[in-house]
Amino acid sequence: LPDLMVLGIETTCDETSAAVVTRSPSGASDIRSNVIRSQVEIHSPYGGVVPEIAARAHVEVLDHVIAEAMRQANVDYSELSGIAAAAGPGLIGGVIVGLTTAKAIALAAKKPLVAVNHLEAHALTARLTDGVAFPYLLLLVSGGHTQLLAIEDVGKYTRLGTTLDDAVGEAFDKVAKMLSLPYPGGRQVEEQAKHGYSARFAFPRPLLGRREPDFSLSGLKTAVRLEADRLAPLSDEDVADLCASFQAAVVDLIADRVRAGARAFRDRLGRGPTALVVAGGVAANGMIRESLAKVAAELNTRFAMPAPVLCTDNGAMIAWAGAERLARGIRDRLDVSPRARWPL
Ligand code: KG4
Ligand code: ZN
Repeated sequence: LPDLMVLGIETTCDETSAAVVTRSPSGASDIRSNVIRSQVEIHSPYGGVVPEIAARAHVEVLDHVIAEAMRQANVDYSELSGIAAAAGPGLIGGVIVGLTTAKAIALAAKKPLVAVNHLEAHALTARLTDGVAFPYLLLLVSGGHTQLLAIEDVGKYTRLGTTLDDAVGEAFDKVAKMLSLPYPGGRQVEEQAKHGYSARFAFPRPLLGRREPDFSLSGLKTAVRLEADRLAPLSDEDVADLCASFQAAVVDLIADRVRAGARAFRDRLGRGPTALVVAGGVAANGMIRESLAKVAAELNTRFAMPAPVLCTDNGAMIAWAGAERLARGIRDRLDVSPRARWPL
């Protein structure tokens, strides 16, 4: 069997990205290029992603981003094994731009099309970066999703737990907003927390100790808001302490929920995971990564965390998920539909 070489396209949110990735029959991988054009500056005046503006921005740059990814990889369309695009879930305008472009390339180059689930791509990234074997326990924490999943095989994902209200990234973003920190907030909260005193406020850790591996963030978020209102106007020190105390609560509750997830994994599969894997934008957070490494050691399992650039949205993860599907003979028809909602 030859190596697969796949072009991947990501346009579901506010990054326009294209990448070329190879996968050998043994599962070895190589990222030949991974070009990411962020829209953060375009959306920052609005304090969040504006869907219509995002879709237009993807249209403007996607062709150049793809050409650059192909140039850096030094390959021609004829050499590709397939074209993969994120077909959802995400902001539908952007998804349409990426998927339609992928269809056009697939048609013109006479190559298979793979319509990739964006969440599946996050889920499989640890196999691209660390060669993790199935089955593993995945904590997916992004702006839109917070889930614990048993990743049993390509296409076989069992949701063990999820958030009952806000996603973890969303909570970071909302806390940032209430403290008047610039968008996007997660990183800013982490920066502030570095000079803050995390024991100043005893914020709640919702669902701590609960057997089901679910999450809840809204009570914690509200507690931060009440404290911020009580202290207003906030000094720099207040902001740093609020961030540090909020982040400490998130770290504690994630560790506890992952332990519950590991129990649920064992109950379901009759064995422990080959690894604990964290993916999604929040996985860029240093304190969360550090804490999860400890939890993995406690659980006697390997800890895998893709580099931050591969944790946040990128084309390489889409190309890799496409290669994993192609390696199993899975491809999609050219009339496959883009999907705003698409649970794993
Ligand atoms: O996966 P992602 O790039 O986009 C999707 O939501 O699909 O994740 C973005 C989320 C945002 O909520 C952002 O605030 C959060 O990840 N994030 C962080 C950090 N960097 C990004 N949260 C906490 N600490 C960080 N360092
Ligand atoms: Zn994402």
